[in-house]
Amino acid sequence: MYGLVNRAIQGLVVEKFGQDKWRRICERAELQQTNFVAMDAYDDAITYALVGAASAELELDAAAVLEAFGEYWTVYTIDEGYGSLLSMMGDTLEEFLDNLDSMHARVGATMPQLVPPSFEREPRPDGSSVLHYRSDRAGLAPMVLGLLRGLAKRFTVDLEIEHLEPDGSDHERFLVRVR
Ligand code: HEM
Repeated sequence: MYGLVNRAIQGLVVEKFGQDKWRRICERAELQQTNFVAMDAYDDAITYALVGAASAELELDAAAVLEAFGEYWTVYTIDEGYGSLLSMMGDTLEEFLDNLDSMHARVGATMPQLVPPSFEREPRPDGSSVLHYRSDRAGLAPMVLGLLRGLAKRFTVDLEIEHLEPDGSDHERFLVRVR
């Protein structure tokens, strides 16, 4: 993944737990280098190693780390200069969710090696939506939960989020309902 992601993990850890914890997480992850360049692409294994080491060092489930990371990402990207892109993608949560793929496509214009996820929002008659999440990567569904929490804050809505049980399809599904 792009260095932007690894830098965001660093930002989250340093902000919440301090510089020393980040140093220990890097040691535990046994990485050759930890000075990530936002616009350089790195092996996904580095990101997974950082999440694993953070989980061990902070004594949190990897899912909890990913969830916190997803929520952090929705503000970190604003600080990193993507605020206007985010603003262009919708005035409501629903519209924003509909535009996630075109948003990542725009990000891909400056990050040619981007391997983005794909999202599809399926509106339901009761006003809720099923968000379909497809990825080439494994295990990142908890990050989506955190992202949705962060987006709920962004759009100041009280959002009920449910990670739906597998239905035999090839992707993950989330039920989202504005209360
Ligand atoms: C403008 C803000 C955003 C930027 C710049 C951005 C950029 C990126 C980048 C660089 C990656 C790593 C993929 C790679 O390097 O190949 C990524 C992954 C991801 N993004 Fe975004 N993103 C943004 C907002 C969002 C939002 C709001 C969501 C909400 C659903 C989202 C969902 C994800 C997920 C789930 C992944 C993990 C990769 C995967 O599932 O395979 N992103 N994004």
